This record gives sequence, structure tokens and C-alpha cells, in this order.
Amino acid sequence: MESAAQMKSATQMGTLKTEQGGVVVLDFGGQYTQLIARRVREQQVFSAILPCTTALEAIRKLEPAGIILSGGPSSVYDKDAPKCDPAVLAMGIPVLGICYGMQWIAKNLGGKVEPAERREYGPARLDVEEAESDILANFPRTMKIWTSHGDNVLALPPGFHLTGKTTNAFAATEDPVRKIYAVQFHPEVNHTERGTEILRNFLFKVCKAEPKWSGAAFIEESVKAIRRKVGSHWAICGLSGGVDSTVAATLVHRAMGDRLTNIFVNTGLLRKNEFEHTLEMYRERLGLRVIGVDASERFLSKLKGVADPEQKRKIIGREFIAAFAKEAEKLQKGEAHGEIKFLVQGTLYPDVIESVSVKGPSATIKSHHNVGGLPDKMPFALVEPLRDLFKDEVRRIGKDLGLPQEILVKHPFPGPGLAVRLLGEITAESLVKLRESDAIVTEEIRRAGLYEKVWQAFAVLLPVRSVGVMGDGRTYGLTVAVRVVQSDDAMTADWVRLPGEVLERISTRIVNEVPGVTRVVYDVSSKPPSTIEWE
Ligand code: XMP
Repeated sequence: MESAAQMKSATQMGTLKTEQGGVVVLDFGGQYTQLIARRVREQQVFSAILPCTTALEAIRKLEPAGIILSGGPSSVYDKDAPKCDPAVLAMGIPVLGICYGMQWIAKNLGGKVEPAERREYGPARLDVEEAESDILANFPRTMKIWTSHGDNVLALPPGFHLTGKTTNAFAATEDPVRKIYAVQFHPEVNHTERGTEILRNFLFKVCKAEPKWSGAAFIEESVKAIRRKVGSHWAICGLSGGVDSTVAATLVHRAMGDRLTNIFVNTGLLRKNEFEHTLEMYRERLGLRVIGVDASERFLSKLKGVADPEQKRKIIGREFIAAFAKEAEKLQKGEAHGEIKFLVQGTLYPDVIESVSVKGPSATIKSHHNVGGLPDKMPFALVEPLRDLFKDEVRRIGKDLGLPQEILVKHPFPGPGLAVRLLGEITAESLVKLRESDAIVTEEIRRAGLYEKVWQAFAVLLPVRSVGVMGDGRTYGLTVAVRVVQSDDAMTADWVRLPGEVLERISTRIVNEVPGVTRVVYDVSSKPPSTIEWE
């Protein structure tokens, strides 16, 4: 299914000036696609990732200076190998194919691609050919590269010349007339020497892109694009207390002032004191117009008896929208309030990619409430100004917007909240246990000076009972798992090697202070193959 979220991604905000003259990365499902987009933005050139199936029209709308075709896990000869419209190669816009992108170009323009006798994976040596090259100009004769491919290009298409090879394969080629370039290795990965220079040569020498993408430019352009999109209508924003929705709300507030009302819903699934504390911060320190809605009883009653994680997520997504719709209706009945047409959300790129399934690109992993968990029919159109960005980029923009440090460094917290950290059915008693345990984890991580050094730290309540002993008595209580992870963008994560003393304090405090919990375990799994949250 080509989801609504996907189709909207290219055009929903209208084209920003910072988007014009940027780069479109067409995704063939490669594990490094996001990295390519980020490397381009690190050069201050805007980049957006679109599914490879995106229509030419949507690509053209962004007025890109260049197109990059990503790598991907398939062989171009697989029956359901992902494809772009071949006309992408004839738009007159320079193209750089990376890995699968190179094989796809070769196959489509009359070259020959075959399964390699020996799969190349990991480090390799590139021999740079003497032939003239736009993107490898003045490079050393040999350099280290990072490869990952099972097919090889055996014959180059007409018009192309070879600019680099490994012992096994053609590794770099270009057609300077049509401005089509291709490499069968990964310049976006740090292990490739001079990879950044290859990207810079493509961006600045070939595409003549201008390095104009910055936080300030993004803010200015986003504000204009939001104004264009919402016109004279009114909007509401679902705040979660986290950095993403706060940055989104602040941007939209700049664009439309008090025609934006923010709604912060107490789902009953928030962390300890989160509702009161965050509401106060929004009002006192950020000057946002915020309504606090306590819908905890409704959420908990809808979740009664539900143990399946996806079902929990869907129910919560539905209830969020119901709560927003109810508040919107109340607002519209008030005096001097216009019709509310838009819902603002702080959706980021990783939320989109993990919730959307296209042929080839990453399969759906979980439905995140602010994307995949939304009902098909919604009473609002979405405004999602951050949906091309990664968390660290959003934090930088939050800083440029002058948000308090407390918000900028806050750990991510999932929309469905504690529901996905409480395995099995949710009850009021188990929520108390989880909330208290979670507060202890956060307090101890802060006390050890680690809060700003790790990506996330939290507790998970497991419906697993085990025997314990306390004083002279036998206990039979529940288990808390402690999860502390390091990550750059939540796409991958590693568990943190916490000092033993910190683990000990967390464990002792939870068992002593949280009645009904008798065992604490530490989660030592990475993502992949695990995910960060347990559900
Ligand atoms: P996973 O568990 O998929 O989590 O590895 C990746 C990151 O996303 C957060 N997360 C969510 N955020 N709505 C959100 O806004 C959600 O439904 C959701 N589920 C997971 C998670 O905390 C982690 O940072």
C-alpha cells in the first residue's frame, strides 16, 4: 500500500526555498539511505528521502539540483527488485548512483550486471583510474573504501568511462555529458577514505548546489511554508512534552501565533509528575497557548483487557485523535475562533521510515502513533514540519529557536507512553509500579551525571514473577527490566555499559521502594535485532 503519509511526504508543506536546489535521495531500501541524506545536510545542502517509486512530478516539485540513488539489499534481477521511473535518468538533473543505484543505472542504460562470483562486503581497495573524473579528481591512486554488494557491473553502458575499480569489480564510473555518476561502494560511510569529498564533488562541482541549508534558514523557510499551507485557518497541535512536538509547536506558533492551540493530553501513561511539570513549562517558559486535558480514565478504560502491543498502539492513536477532535469542537464553539483544519505533529524521519512500507525500502516495524497508528479518516490535515529531519537536527533547530536546555536534552518518550513499557495488560496498580521504577532509573542516571550522555534510560515492567526473600519472609513478585541505550538517531542502538555501582543503586532502590517488585534485570540487547522499546 502506498500510504497517505508517503505520498504527502514530498509535497505536504509545499516547496521551501531551502528545499529548492537540494538533493533528492531515492530510496531503494538500503541500510545507509538515511546516512546519505544526513551527510548531504552536513554539507548544508537540503536533502529529502523519497521512496524509489515516487512519481517524477513529485521529484520535480522539489526542484532538486541533484538526485542520489541509494543502495539496496536486492539484486537488479530479482523479480520484485525495487525500481525508479527510468526517466529519472533523463530529467537533465545530475544523478549519483550508490551501490544498487549503480547497478540499476547500468542495467537501465544498456550495461551488463551479473551476480558476482565473490560477494564483496566490508573494506576493499579502490584503484583510481587515470581517466578524467569529476568526482574523483586529484584523488590518490589507491584508497580504502567500504563495500556491500552481491552483483557486479560487467560492462559499462555506452557513454560511460571507468574511473575506479577493485580487484573484483568495476567500482566507479561516469558519463560527464549526461552528468550521471555511479560508485559501487559507500562514500557516506566513514570507513571510505575521502567519501565526504566524493559527495562534495558531486554536490558542488557537478550539481552546483549552494550550501544554504542551516537552522536559521530552515526556521525562516518553514515559517513561510506553514503560513502558505494553513492560510487563514486555525490549527491545533498535539504536544507530548518531548523535543519534537515542542519544536514543531514553536515553529508553527511563530507562523500563526495564537491561531494555534496546543493540546497536551494526560493519557494516564505519562511518567511521574510529567503532566503537571510539562504543562507549567509550556505556559510559563515558552509562552505557548496550551490546554491540558486529563483523559487518563478514558484511555485506561479503552485499554482494559488488551495485551497485544499493536492493538495497544492503535487504540492509543485513535484515542489521541478523539481527544483532539473533542477539544477542537469545544474551541470552535468559543467566541472569535475560526474553523480548525490542521493538526500539527512533531513527526521525524525515523518515525516515517519505520511506519511506512514501500516495495523494497524498509518494512514496517512498529506503527508509531504519530504516523502509522493514525486512523485512515481524520478530521484534520496534518502539518509535520520536521518529517525530513533526524533528532539531532531537531535539537539543533530547537536551540536556534531558543528553547530551554531542559527540553533540548530530554530523552525521547514514545507517544503510547508507558503502555509499551508495561508488558501485557495495563492496570492502575502495575502503572504505579512502573512509574515509580522509572523515576528511580531517571534519578540515578542523572545523579551519576549520565542523563545527557545516553540516548534513553527507562524501566520496563515484566509480567514475570519470581521467588525472593525479604526479611524472614518469602516473596513472589514482579520483574523490572532496566534499559539504557546509546544511539544517534534511534535507527540503531547499543546498550550502555553502565558502571556496576549505578546498576546496584538502581536495583537496590527499586526492590526496596517499589512494593511488589522483587527482581531487577538489565537489558543487554542492541537494535537490531531488538528494538529500543519492548513493545
Ligand atoms: P523502537 O522501539 O522502535 O524505538 O526501537 C525507536 C525510538 O522511537 C521511540 N518510539 C516512539 N516514538 N511514538 C513515538 O513518538 C511511538 O509510537 C514510538 N514507539 C517508539 C522510542 O522511544 C525510541 O526512541
